[in-house]
Order: sequence, then structure tokens, then C-alpha cells
Amino acid sequence: MIPKQTVQEILDAARVEEVVGEFVHLKKRGVNQIGLCPFHNEKTPSFTVSPAKGIFKCFGCGEAGSSVDFIMKHEHYTFPQALKWLAQKYNIEVEEEEQTPEQILAENEREGLFAVTQFAAKFFEDTLHNTEKGKAIGKSYFNERGFAEHIISKFQLGYSPDEWDGLSKAAITAGYTQEYLVKAGLAIKKDNGKIYDRFRNRVIFPIHNASGRVIGFGGRILVNDKKQAKYVNSPESIIYNKSNVLFGLFTGKAEIIKKDNCLLVEGYTDVISLFQSGIENVVSSSGTSLTIGQIKLIKRYTNNITILYDGDAAGIKASFRGIDMIVEEGLNVRVVLFPDGEDPDSYARTHSADELKSFLENNSQDFIHFKADLLSNEAGNDPVKKAGVVREIVQTIALVTEQLNRVYLIRETSELLDIKEDILTNEVAKARRKKYYKDNKEEYIPTPAVTPAETQIITANEGDISQEKEIIRLLLNYANLDFNPFDAKILEKKIKENSQEEGNKENNEDEIIKVGVFILDELIYDDIKFDDTVLQKIYKEYVQAFHEETLLSEKFFINHPDEQIRQTAVDLLTQQYSLSPLWIKDHHISTTTETDNEVIARACISGVYSLKSRKLKKAKQELLEKTKEITDKNELANNLLECKEIDKLLNELNSKLGRIVYE
Ligand code: CTP
Ligand code: MN
Repeated sequence: MIPKQTVQEILDAARVEEVVGEFVHLKKRGVNQIGLCPFHNEKTPSFTVSPAKGIFKCFGCGEAGSSVDFIMKHEHYTFPQALKWLAQKYNIEVEEEEQTPEQILAENEREGLFAVTQFAAKFFEDTLHNTEKGKAIGKSYFNERGFAEHIISKFQLGYSPDEWDGLSKAAITAGYTQEYLVKAGLAIKKDNGKIYDRFRNRVIFPIHNASGRVIGFGGRILVNDKKQAKYVNSPESIIYNKSNVLFGLFTGKAEIIKKDNCLLVEGYTDVISLFQSGIENVVSSSGTSLTIGQIKLIKRYTNNITILYDGDAAGIKASFRGIDMIVEEGLNVRVVLFPDGEDPDSYARTHSADELKSFLENNSQDFIHFKADLLSNEAGNDPVKKAGVVREIVQTIALVTEQLNRVYLIRETSELLDIKEDILTNEVAKARRKKYYKDNKEEYIPTPAVTPAETQIITANEGDISQEKEIIRLLLNYANLDFNPFDAKILEKKIKENSQEEGNKENNEDEIIKVGVFILDELIYDDIKFDDTVLQKIYKEYVQAFHEETLLSEKFFINHPDEQIRQTAVDLLTQQYSLSPLWIKDHHISTTTETDNEVIARACISGVYSLKSRKLKKAKQELLEKTKEITDKNELANNLLECKEIDKLLNELNSKLGRIVYE
């Protein structure tokens, strides 16, 4: 059994495009990626991967699912086997609940490296605390830097003795092999076959993975020596993949979740000093410049990153690059620049914890203000340079994945730099187009044609099942989107009339809810049940969560333990873009004149009311059937009354539907 939490960690980490990409050559096409289907023979690609939704689907053979499904199908694995495969890929440790110490000891290479690295960490720590030289050199260095005793322990800091093979000797005596010492990067092999320690006479910063095991080290020199590197770092190994590791993540992740923000600094000492000042939600990309892998790692815990860099040229340059990458991964970014000559570490040492906290609060800027401030200073009054500032900001906004966020950012820039929103919107659109063509320049592959059979699924207006499908499709695709009845122009008039009656309410913000809230509210109110068992299961999950004030996301269903639910969810999610002409005709939607929001709002209203109307008709039918057998007069009267009630409701519904369909 893999612990539930680990399963979640694996599912969160797995990127469908990366997983599938291991087996299928994928090419970008719009928001999706496509390639040749590995599950059937084909010459033109109809195998589509949607990174945003975390699913794949072949429009040729119908295979579809999540990352786990892909591995299960492709490698003929069971669910746990597929999870383990993914865990290995993403460096997530799977400690199976029933694993015995003996099994753990039956070391594969990975475990062997973990073991020798763990031994080294203990050795360095021991040397720091319990040897004369460790205390005199290593400990006094840390003390001089102001690191408190409990912080030294917390980060498991250490010292490597000033000997050629201090660690290697101890490790081999303890039964570890030379091979593993070298593979873990702790020792280096000379031509004559002998080995010597990589870390000598340095203070040691162990690097932990997210689950707290040591996977590598950074060793800092103790003296100022221009001829030697300030830091010696572990090389990459099968347990240490630098671009997927963040120093401080293990110590900081609880606070990162709690604060819903991750501070990003440049070095080991910055992380430790901030932590000592009570700011624990901090990580560093130590030794590498920030990578996409590291941003994705942070994304498992929060969507907000605050970059804390030195105010020097190198720091600013690094922050610019970081901003663009973070924004492109769909996260929010703020920046704090430290005064020239200061870094988080030095600032934390020379100021109180409260001063530091308020400094961070008062000096964090969104990237627009940050870039505008910095660049405007440089540009002065030069109009050409000023235009350059705008272009620089537009460039970054164009990378933002969420359209709504782009709108807000454009508005903010417009106010800050006093430039018309229209102009900025145009510039951003231009930049996005340019980027799109750049990203897709290799080859343009047209959308695989949607077969008539497929269009049927969503177009068929007949039958409850297709209506039920439509509702679940809307929930899966758009539950968390804003539902604004004004978007569906049909209701506009009615709401306007109402608000005029109520004294001209200017503010129609109240009307905006989430798509999921609209649909579920309506259906729960009328106690609707779905005929299709799988759809009913999905609907029930939505309703249950809704009662706990949660709107489930599509991810919940894509990764659902119930295979049928997973499949249905994936099927319905992959139909999003295939609005067929028939469907459009049925809903009287013209794609050329209507915005996406309008289409969605209309589809929601029409979907909900059609389903209700059909259910009511069915209820009436049943009542009438019963009527035939009723002999009791009173009962008959009651029954007919009920039918009338239903007729009334139906009329109401139809008139609402009519507005959508015929206006
Ligand atoms: N770094 C490195 N190799 C170097 C210099 C730096 O790997 N030769 C990495 C280290 O991970 C370091 C980070 O870059 O933590 C930031 O560098 P720097 O600010 O120079 O080091 P600090 O850790 O801040 O150390 P100190 O405060 O002692 O200067
Ligand atoms: Mn530093």
C-alpha cells in the first residue's frame, strides 16, 4: 500500500505531457500537444495531450485518461506499479506502508545512495559537534555568522575535516562501498584507482528532498581565497537532480502552505538567516539559476512566489528571468529588492525579526511596479527608452497564461504608466501572437477532424443521457469559471427589468457566481437525479462536496479511483472544443458573434433548464400512467392537481428556454 498522501504527491507532480512525452514524440498545437497514437497504428497524428487538464485522448482509437492511465495502458502496469513508475520519474519517495526494514535494507542502487549520503550527513554533523577541529573551526564559523544552536541542528549543518579521506575512510569502515561513495559524489576517484573526499575543510549544508532525506551537499570555504571556489557542491546523481530540488523546501513547506506564499532567495545562508528570524517559508535554488522544475515543485504547495534578490545587477537580471518563468508557469510573482550591498542574510542579521518582516511587507511589489520602477529610473525622460519600458512589461504580461489575469495586469499598467488600455491590449496580443508562432514554428498540424460519431455525443438533444452528459461536461470544464447571467444575453433584459423595479440597482456584481454554483443550486433545489449510473455518481460527488462549500475541480475526477468515473470525465473533458455546427444550431449560438463566456453561459442555462424540463415531463408521464389505475376520486383529483403543477413549472421553464432559443 502506498500512503494516500504520497499518492497525492505523485498525482500532483505528474505532468501528462512529460509522462506521455517519454514515449510519444509530441508537438505543440495551440494549448494542446499532439503526436502519433501509441495504442493504434496511424500515419497522421490524432493523439492529443492537454497539459492544462492533465489528460490525453486519441481521437482515432478513443484511448484516453490521465498520466497514471497512460502508464498503466502503455506499460501494462497495475495502478500501484504505474504510481511507482511516476514516483521514480519525479523523485518522489514511496515508502510502502507494509515495507519491512529488511526490505529497505535489500538495497537497490537508489537506496544505497540514500544510505551512504545519510551516513555522510551524520558524519559531517558529528565532526562539527564532537571533534576539536570541528568545534574550533566549523562551529566557530557558524557562531560568527550568528547561526543559533537550534538552527544549526535544524538544518543539520556540518563540517568536513581537513583531511584527504576523512569521510571515505569512516564510510568504508562502516561497510559502505567505494563505488557508492563515488556515485553519490562524496568521493572522487583518481587515475590510480584511489579515492579522496570531495568535501575537505568546509562547512557543510546538507540538501534535503521534499520528504526530508539528504540527497546532496554544499560545502562552503572558510577563508577568503580567490583561487578556490566559495562553494563545492555535490554533482548530480540518481538521487540528486539539481533542477528539481530546492534548498529549504523540506524545512519550509509547512509554512509555505500555511502562508500560501514561497519566498525565493539566492543562497543557503539566506534561507537559514530568514528561518532564524521566524520567516520559514523560504527556499533557494542554490547553485543553479531557477529552473522550470523548481517552479513546478513550488507549485505543489502554493501559487504565489516572492523573489528576494540582491539589488545588484546580477540579482536584478536573475529576478527578471525568474519573473518570466514563474509567470509562464501560471503562478503569481512579487519581488523584493534589497538595498545595494545587502542580501536577505545580511539584512536579517543586522535587523530585528520585526524590522525584517515589515521590510518585506512594505517592499514587495508586483512585477509591473517592479519593472516600471527600475526601468523608468534608467529611461529618465527619453521617450524612446520609455517605450522600451512599456515593451518590457508588455512582454511579461504576454506570458501570463490566464486571460483574466492579463486583463487586470493591463489595467494596472495602464494606470501606472498612463497609457491607454486599448493600446496595451493590442501590444500584448501582438506579443502573444509572435510568441505563438515562435513556439510553433517547426510544423503546423491541423486539428484532427472530429468524426460524426463524436459530435453526436454532445449534439444529440434527444434522450436524457445526452442532457445529463452535457451538465456534467459543463461542470467538469467550467465549474470554477465566473457565471455571469449578463453574458447570456437572453437574461439581460429580464434582469434589467427586475433591477429597474427594485430602484435601478447599478451594481450587478451580485449576479456573478460560479458556473458550478449556478448548475448545482438549480439541480439540488429540484432534487434532480441522473439516470445514467456513472453520471449520477459524478453528480453525487459534486453535490456532496458542494454541501461542504467546495466546488470539485476536474482533477478530482481525472484521478478518481473509480475507473469508469475517470474515463467518463476524460471523455467529457476532451469534448470541450468540439462545439459542432449542429450543437451550435440547436442552441442558436453563432460562434462568430459571441464570446466564449456567452457560449458557456447560454449552454449552462439551456443545459440546466432542458434537463429539468425533461425530468418534469417524465414525472408527469408517470403520474398520468398511475391515473389510469386510480379509482378513488380524491386521489384522482390530487393526481391531476399535481399534473397541473408540473405543467405550470414546465411552462415557466419553457419560457425561460424560449428566451435562450428564440431571442
Ligand atoms: N554558489 C555556488 N558556488 C559558488 C558560489 C555560489 O554554488 N562558487 C551558490 C550557493 O548555493 C550559494 C548561492 O549560490 O548559496 C549564492 O551565492 P552567494 O550569495 O555567494 O553565497 P551565500 O550562500 O550567500 O554565502 P555567503 O552569505 O557566505 O556569501
Ligand atoms: Mn550571500
